[in-house]
Amino acid sequence: GTSALTGADLAGRHVVVSAGGTREYLDPVRFLGNRSSGLQGYALARAAAARGAEVTLVSANVTLPDPAGVKVVRVETTAQLRDAVLEAAAGADSVVMAAAPADFRPTSVSEAKIKKADDGSSPTIELEQNPDVLHELAHHRPVPGAVIVGFAAETGDATGSVLELGAAKLARKGCDLLVVNDVSGGAVFGSPDNEAVILAADGAEPVVVPPGPKAALAHAIWDQVARRFVP
Ligand code: CTP
Ligand code: CA
Repeated sequence: GTSALTGADLAGRHVVVSAGGTREYLDPVRFLGNRSSGLQGYALARAAAARGAEVTLVSANVTLPDPAGVKVVRVETTAQLRDAVLEAAAGADSVVMAAAPADFRPTSVSEAKIKKADDGSSPTIELEQNPDVLHELAHHRPVPGAVIVGFAAETGDATGSVLELGAAKLARKGCDLLVVNDVSGGAVFGSPDNEAVILAADGAEPVVVPPGPKAALAHAIWDQVARRFVP
């Protein structure tokens, strides 16, 4: 399909977008976090609203203004993001997981600020794995027929190229679409531009989205979601 920049092809649809990066606290003042700015998720929310959708934006630690006409739910941790996304997904035609949830959290959070030891020793931080929200959504399917979309920021490594790792992740996650971007060098973080390849579980040819504003990638993603909606 062609990009529907002004049409209302998502009217009557409820979509959920997650954005930003979660934080996992070590103590009241420190956390483990990541470099996600939330720009791509906010662009997705704005684009969906412009195309007539009812939009719930689950926003993790983003410092951008609320998009007009969008319901914003603020979260900090991956556990909170999971709860907010699953609650909103119960009535959603599509969920797009643009957020970067922390994969691990400290096994315990210190109630008091952690102090330096006098002997110069350093603490060891023990971590446990967070729930995988996308995997859970895709495998439990709260709304049959809802289009579930993941993102994969890959650098490629000894085990495979960016696209090979993306294809493996699509299969593992069980989602319908996976938006793969190459983050080698870290150029995408906080950048107004993005480029990606959209992989589909239904066997459709990958859609290559050339470098451009994050709004353009957002519309390309909604194009792929919209064509998979059951009429
Ligand atoms: N994701 C999620 N819950 C997590 C981690 C990731 O829902 N706890 C989602 C992200 O929002 C994204 C997709 O899964 O849409 C892929 O995230 P990514 O970090 O690339 O996948 P991981 O399975 O965490 O794999 P990796 O080891 O490469 O980080
Ligand atoms: Ca991860």
